[in-house]
Amino acid sequence: MKSSNFLVVESDASRAETVASALAFLGYRPVLAHRMQAADAAEGWRAAYVGTVEDEAELEGYLAALGRHGRNLPLLVSADSPVASALIAGDDAQSLNVELIDMPLRYERLSEALRTLQSRMQPVQNHLRFVGQSGPMQRVNALIRQVAPFDSSVLVLGESGSGKELVARTIHDCSPRRDKPFVAINCGAIPAELLESELFGHEKGAFTGAISTRKGRFEMAEGGTLFLDEIGDMSLPMQVKLLRVLQERVFERVGGNRPQRCDVRIIAATHRDLEGAIERGGFREDLFYRLSVFPLEMPALRQRLEDLPALIAEFNQRLLQRGLTSVRFAPSAMTALCRHPWPGNVRELSNLVERMAILMPQGEVRAADLPEKYRGALRIEEVSGAALIAMMEAEPEPVVETFGFSNDSDPAVLPLGGLDLKDHLAGIEIGLIRQALNSANGVVAHAAKLLRVQRTTLVEKLRKYGLSETVQAG
Ligand SMILES: Nc1ncnc2c1ncn2[C@@H]1O[C@H](COP(=O)(O)OP(=O)(O)OP(=O)(O)O)[C@@H](O)[C@H]1O
Ligand SMILES: [Mg+2]
Repeated sequence: MKSSNFLVVESDASRAETVASALAFLGYRPVLAHRMQAADAAEGWRAAYVGTVEDEAELEGYLAALGRHGRNLPLLVSADSPVASALIAGDDAQSLNVELIDMPLRYERLSEALRTLQSRMQPVQNHLRFVGQSGPMQRVNALIRQVAPFDSSVLVLGESGSGKELVARTIHDCSPRRDKPFVAINCGAIPAELLESELFGHEKGAFTGAISTRKGRFEMAEGGTLFLDEIGDMSLPMQVKLLRVLQERVFERVGGNRPQRCDVRIIAATHRDLEGAIERGGFREDLFYRLSVFPLEMPALRQRLEDLPALIAEFNQRLLQRGLTSVRFAPSAMTALCRHPWPGNVRELSNLVERMAILMPQGEVRAADLPEKYRGALRIEEVSGAALIAMMEAEPEPVVETFGFSNDSDPAVLPLGGLDLKDHLAGIEIGLIRQALNSANGVVAHAAKLLRVQRTTLVEKLRKYGLSETVQAG
């Protein structure tokens, strides 16, 4: 019998089916809660999806049926689930690993949420490797080693998906606090009015809905590290409160008046320009200086393309750990990936590796197999004569761009990640032929002289590249 590893708690039949097939597509083995059997308790459960469900008790019943696996099972909770707010705000939110997901289900968001659940489960025994040997990453590594042993606050800056959270975890893992909790909170994702209670906790009855006393993230992180993600999105009033805690190392729960001391190392991160925000009055300068005792700037992936192969190997490793297959990229695909600007940085690469692993589990991914936006310019054999001419006429030097060298890079230098030699040389050849034809006003015999080749040889090449019609006979 096929073993199951992903529990789907969803009474809406069509939604249950969608979720189950998406999970199956991602390599999990889902089972619908009402079809679960006693023997299932022994399965290697990975996580549960929680959607439409009567109440918390019903959910608890299902989780309890999983025996010891049910406790601490990561939960993927649909944002409109009747139990979503209870799960997030509940007393055991700290022990539960919960990710909210919006409906209708989107593949990118689903795989992202699953990765987050997975990565939160892994760090204890299975540290995510922080990969990168490029010059910029060697500098980042050196900074991590330097700052980790101290309690100094660190401000990690960098574009979206560049690895800010992984850096924060790596600093924690390399610090004397490594055996204490690493607690992350996304200051941008939590509504301003809830953030205070999330950070500092609340006393019973502090506000409507505060049915019991609850610890905040500062208390949960005691002795360890608190990661304040998206700090640039924190409201000004909350910034004032945070500043006070950082200065005095003392806080009170919402609705309480007993000051509590805390011993927590702060690492904050943002993709925003905080100094610009300060000038515009959106971020407090005093808080900025408190947080950025040690600023650490993550380089964008496009600035360190030589890390691509190692990152791909790392993501393959992570796929294998999840029971999926790994994927291999042919040199032509690597060349295309080196030309991509990677606006979503390492996360975008990780998503692409996973997507290609699912689409082409056995094969080698060639440039033509990549999703269109990664293919960049078309390969020469795929370009018909007319299209090639159009391309060449469109801009003064499009062919050079097309074949992967920017104006300021040297076509004789091997790009990071290698290149497709045939395409590359053809690109250079076409560029030179075109220049010679321009200088010779399209007269082939004159152009051939400039290129020191026989006229017949040039004619042959023009035919090969579909350029014959652009030139005069002669
Ligand atoms: N140097 C690296 N080595 C291995 N994996 C990495 C590296 N950098 C980032 N990753 C992976 O890429 C993904 C995105 O990283 P992370 O969440 O740390 O980025 P981020 O900068 O916090 O993103 P955002 O700005 O969107 O919050 C994660 O899966 C992370 O494990
Ligand atoms: Mg992040």
